[in-house]
Amino acid sequence: MSEFLENSIDLGKRILLDRSIVTLFPLDDVVEDCINTGENVPEEKENYFPNCDASIWLRSCKKEVIEPLSGEVTGKIPIWLKGTLLRNGPGSLEVGKYSFNHLFDSSALLHRFAIANGKVSYQCRFVQTDVYKKNNAAQRIVVTEFGTKAVPDPCKSIFQRVAAVFKPGDDSDNSMISIYPFCDEYYTFAESPVIHRIDPKTLETKGRVNISGYVGIVNHTSHPHVMNDGTVYNIGMSLTPRGPMYNVVCFSPNQIVIDDSGEEKELSMFEQATIVASVPSRWLLNPSYMHTFGITENYFIIIEQPLAVSLTTIVSCKVKQQPMRAALKWHEKENASESYRRKNFHLFLD
Ligand SMILES: [Fe+2]
Repeated sequence: MSEFLENSIDLGKRILLDRSIVTLFPLDDVVEDCINTGENVPEEKENYFPNCDASIWLRSCKKEVIEPLSGEVTGKIPIWLKGTLLRNGPGSLEVGKYSFNHLFDSSALLHRFAIANGKVSYQCRFVQTDVYKKNNAAQRIVVTEFGTKAVPDPCKSIFQRVAAVFKPGDDSDNSMISIYPFCDEYYTFAESPVIHRIDPKTLETKGRVNISGYVGIVNHTSHPHVMNDGTVYNIGMSLTPRGPMYNVVCFSPNQIVIDDSGEEKELSMFEQATIVASVPSRWLLNPSYMHTFGITENYFIIIEQPLAVSLTTIVSCKVKQQPMRAALKWHEKENASESYRRKNFHLFLD
């Protein structure tokens, strides 16, 4: 395993990164020097995750591992331990001679660790998203990502480039954050409503589903909740004449129904997607950024935090083909401690 890692990945390669990531994960020796000399660490260099080696996230995988590779076991894996660990995450910051500027733009890479009989094997494979395929075919960054502007196509005229801005469906579908089950199928998630079905054994990409084609949301979180009966809940935003709404979307397990012609038909979880609760944003043009939410036996718990998304900046970024990271906005004047219970929490009866 270690041999594979050293051969196929540029360990700890450092590239120009967005300041927010540098703040979270210092990449230079400033912090270490401060610790050694007893000086105060500069505020912008504080490491909030001292036990996390951020350089691992910044590596670029050069070679997929399609056939299971036996791992070298150090210590002893209990014989009763059997199962598979699937992970998704940033896999490559490079496209040809170009690099992404932000960790969130890194191409989705799946990892599979299979544990049985005291042994472990490893596989990894890129999710075959549309943006991954387009980038690799062109050997440049074709679509503007969260923190990286696309490299213009030298073959396109200025008029073709302007027309391309307004072409629907050209947003990134890089589902590089998480994996969740929908019945017996597994899907990779980011925050765009496009998810990818993957084969949990081979890590092949088997399909692509756009949730907004089933229910009226423009984004969703990458951390839905899976109930014991297989029902999946997620939070997604919709844009309505009354302003942005936060919606709880329910995906019920597949079920057989009788259609109008009397035939049996299986309804998928996506075909059954329904909004079961909605609440308006208190900021008309800057709805809160949501990364996940809570569920108890009787309540959905949605935290409307002061970190928000500027809808006007999103439109302007789209027109100018600028990265969307500029659209994040902090509501500085909100008194979070005072409004914590009364305003920032919305509770719904199930
Ligand atoms: Fe997360």
